[in-house]
Amino acid sequence: MRLIGKTAIVTGAGRGIGRGIAIEFAKEGATVIVATLVEEEGRQVVQEIADQGGRAVFVQVDVASEDSVRDMVRQAAEAYGGIDVLVNNAGITLFKPLLEATLEDWDAVMNIDLRGVFLCSKYVAAEMTKRGAGAIVNISSNHAKATLPDTELYAAAKAGVNGLTRSMALSLGKSGIRVNAICPGFTDTPHYRAWLESQGNAREIEQEVAWLHAGSRIASPSDIGKLAIYLASDEAEMVTGAEIVIDGGLSARLYHSRLC
Ligand SMILES: NC(=O)c1ccc[n+]([C@@H]2O[C@H](COP(=O)([O-])OP(=O)(O)OC[C@H]3O[C@@H](n4cnc5c(N)ncnc54)[C@H](O)[C@@H]3O)[C@@H](O)[C@H]2O)c1
Repeated sequence: MRLIGKTAIVTGAGRGIGRGIAIEFAKEGATVIVATLVEEEGRQVVQEIADQGGRAVFVQVDVASEDSVRDMVRQAAEAYGGIDVLVNNAGITLFKPLLEATLEDWDAVMNIDLRGVFLCSKYVAAEMTKRGAGAIVNISSNHAKATLPDTELYAAAKAGVNGLTRSMALSLGKSGIRVNAICPGFTDTPHYRAWLESQGNAREIEQEVAWLHAGSRIASPSDIGKLAIYLASDEAEMVTGAEIVIDGGLSARLYHSRLC
């Protein structure tokens, strides 16, 4: 029970990685604020946590909207007397060739993936500062470090998240707030499944992706949740400003070829 007595906001917790983090946090005793856009998804996760004996509430939020974020933070702080942990997880993934990407595409990715992290961190850090303690965990991506063709928008947003993480860690350290980034690789979420199914040869790609990993499997949302627990807990007192890759060895390989 490493998060007992802690109140944690997890954005985008309606499905995928955010859902996995919310469920793992509740198992460790946290009261989880399932803060997400789609009410039905959020309420389902709250119910799932309650069924397992945990504590969670749903708060609707659009992380790209300042009014919405301000409102979410006010509700959470009033209900629980403060916020101990923020997980900035909400995000969209849009891969599009540079020459086809529009300004609307750029704004959509930046507004959710980067502005959302800025807004939630700003308003939650103001609450954490009052108590002189807190932990912020940003769900970035391995694309912040090494990427692929046609991923400019997403790679730029996630590299921005890592930059925000480093600077916030330095700015907020004296207020007792730690800030870290998790950089997941392939993770088995509805988004990943949809991408796989859109590929035509889904089964072949699934096997290829598994082969790229040291243990022949991709991460599950609960793998990411377990790392987030550590970063959110008091055990990580000396860990701040870090970018931790969790990709099952994907990025440890020098190059990818089955022939040599
Ligand atoms: N799945 C992967 O392989 C993978 C890998 C690396 C990083 N990530 C990152 O992990 C995070 C979660 O990814 P996922 O695959 O679970 O995605 P997902 O699409 O399965 O879930 C995203 C969640 O965020 C919510 N959301 C979307 N826009 C929102 C908004 N404006 N305000 C509030 N909530 C919003 C959605 O409703 C959904 O509940 C993202 O930041 C993503 O970039 C995912």
